[in-house]
Amino acid sequence: MDLNLKIHDKGHVDIGGADTVELAEEYGTPLYAIDEDRIRDNYKRVYDAFTKYYSNFKILYASKANTNLSVMRILEEEGSCIDAVSPGEVFTSLKTGFSPDRILFTGNNVTNDELKYIDETGVKINLDSVSQLKRLAKIVDPEGYKISFRVNPMVGAGHHEHCITGGEMSKFGIKENEAVEVYKLAKEMGFEPVGMHTHIGSGILDPEPFKLATTVLMDIAGQVSQETDVNFEFLDLGGGFGIPYEPEENLLDIDLFAKESTGIFKSKLSEYGMNDNKEPYMYIEPGRYLVGDAALLLTRVNTVKNSYRKFIGVDSGFNTLLRPSMYGSYHHIVLANKANEPAENGSKIEKVDVAGNVCESGDLFARDRPLPPIEEGDLLAIMNAGAYSFSMGSQYNSRPRPAEILVKNGNSEIIRERETYEDLFNKQILPKRLKK
Ligand code: LLP
Repeated sequence: MDLNLKIHDKGHVDIGGADTVELAEEYGTPLYAIDEDRIRDNYKRVYDAFTKYYSNFKILYASKANTNLSVMRILEEEGSCIDAVSPGEVFTSLKTGFSPDRILFTGNNVTNDELKYIDETGVKINLDSVSQLKRLAKIVDPEGYKISFRVNPMVGAGHHEHCITGGEMSKFGIKENEAVEVYKLAKEMGFEPVGMHTHIGSGILDPEPFKLATTVLMDIAGQVSQETDVNFEFLDLGGGFGIPYEPEENLLDIDLFAKESTGIFKSKLSEYGMNDNKEPYMYIEPGRYLVGDAALLLTRVNTVKNSYRKFIGVDSGFNTLLRPSMYGSYHHIVLANKANEPAENGSKIEKVDVAGNVCESGDLFARDRPLPPIEEGDLLAIMNAGAYSFSMGSQYNSRPRPAEILVKNGNSEIIRERETYEDLFNKQILPKRLKK
């Protein structure tokens, strides 16, 4: 099993050296528990793998995966930069201590007000369309203003159709065959294009599409540099590196992947003379890989129901963790208070549906999942809940969002308080005539 599952001496699931059963008792459920050291290790593993082969290298953490302030601070301390896709993510990054030069804004369908805000922060803008370029020219003085463009390399991949961001169905980036024209236009307008970016999709465990996209992007960049005299300061290959969610899935061999992609990168730099003056930076933008396996969602079983199917009912739902309902994503589920049970009790394994508490039929964490006997009061650990989990949560069904804790060396601290019912009214204003 390549999942980051640790079991405590007592047969309880462990996170960061703490016993999840005790954590659930202390903080209540549902609860997101985040392992600080795992984030640091994930960061170092990627950084070391790539810098071994190419030193002008930066990791831009895709903050959409998890914008918790503590998670952002941990990655800031590690030396990460940021991929921000909204003004809110830029704001959050600045607030958590990232200087503007460590943030790249890659927006899509951006308003003029948002462009103005990004310009004021001093963060570099990665443009997604000619429309944005023309509107930006009216907002800033283009002369010598550094920008980059997101390009659609016509290569796409991802764990679900919704998570494929390259190819002709994708709304992102400029067309590959128009790149030269667009960079020329930008230069004519006075801008100084210094970067090129792509991101082909998310949740990819196979290195091949990345390698293909890197080759295509580097060819486009090469052509642009030869035909428009752009000197690239950076080439950004995007994120999307998968992690295993199912026990049978293999880890991405990050060292081999780094070796191969930096190999393509370097040979293309030489082929097109893009390293004649100065070697451009290679950027990558992982989100899930850095934080995905660093957290668990702890949720308590409150109902065991034998209906036409056997349902294990828990105290969280797709408002807390949307991925299974939205993409049919698999999240491994472990009986946290009896984590050794499958080994001891193999014959009793049965297939059950793990159902959330949202009033919708699609609110299931798992269908037909083989699990050991589960009783009311048991604790479940839903794994790989560090990326696109809390960040995609909502208050649907008027359920306050859960608490988050950070665990390090067996010690836990609350890093986000559980919302209260009162919080459900935040920012709402009742017109006078409707007051009682
Ligand atoms: N860079 C850009 C421009 C992106 O749009 C994304 C993700 C990333 C980097 C990071 O991708 P990652 O390394 O985390 O795969 N909600 C979906 C994932 C959507 C990802 C959107 N963009 C999920 O839960 O699987």
